Amino acid sequence: MDNLEAIYARHSVRNYTGVALDDAEARQLQQVIDTVSAASGLNIQLLRNNPQTFELVARFGAIRGCKDCIAFVAHKRDQDEAIGYWGQLIVLEAQKMGLNTCWARMFAQRKCQADCPPNAAVRIVIAVGHGVNNGSVRESKSATDVVTIASGATKPAWFDTAVEAALLAPTAMNRQAFSIALERDGEVCITAPGKGLTTIDLGIVRRNFDEAKTACANGSSPSNIDRVKRDGSFRVTLGKETQLGNGGA
Ligand SMILES: Cc1cc2nc3c(=O)[nH]c(=O)nc-3n(C[C@H](O)[C@H](O)[C@H](O)COP(=O)(O)O)c2cc1C
Repeated sequence: MDNLEAIYARHSVRNYTGVALDDAEARQLQQVIDTVSAASGLNIQLLRNNPQTFELVARFGAIRGCKDCIAFVAHKRDQDEAIGYWGQLIVLEAQKMGLNTCWARMFAQRKCQADCPPNAAVRIVIAVGHGVNNGSVRESKSATDVVTIASGATKPAWFDTAVEAALLAPTAMNRQAFSIALERDGEVCITAPGKGLTTIDLGIVRRNFDEAKTACANGSSPSNIDRVKRDGSFRVTLGKETQLGNGGA
């Protein structure tokens, strides 16, 4: 599975089997985290056997049966976009390892056993583990909702796939509050209004966009991907969403 395939295969999974990552899985994930931490300068921690992170009273947005998570420790919100951008790379690597994930802002901040320096806190976590299923297709905006193309601009060959990948990115509450502008000079500007979770979303969306663009340059294409989408996934062709099968709950 390459990164583009991982983008198509990924869905948020909130129900896990209760089986923790084994040592080999944890080692492999830790290597990914080490690489991403070094490249980004972010404080990212794999918290093993930390199910209390998800012990919440709230029913909405609850993650169940998940023993392990990845915590992003930060002083300020000015790292939000980087957290989204680099965290989503970890999500894609986890997907390629056959694991399931869910970004979660709703978690038990006080019970989560991350190592936090003074004045820092866990900004967000990613639940990671073995889902009871691989998640399911959700509603999505269409490309026409989020894209503007400047008059006179030429659309690059990879553009539609990258937009599709952006629309497949996880965003808080599935808001998809981002815009993609293709400028006349070929520059692509991806923006999102506001701060906080929308900025984490922006980083995530940019990562999916960039990975799809790179994958296209390396010869990967969505036409290769239908085979990994048999278990209830969808292809978004610009402005149109097509269900290919039955997704899990
Ligand atoms: C920044 C962020 C925070 C999120 N927080 C939660 C959360 O607290 N609880 C939850 O169940 N899902 C959470 N999600 C997952 C979103 O609800 C999910 O990505 C969205 O509904 C789209 O579905 P998909 O990930 O299956 O594509 C969060 C996602 C993001 C990007």
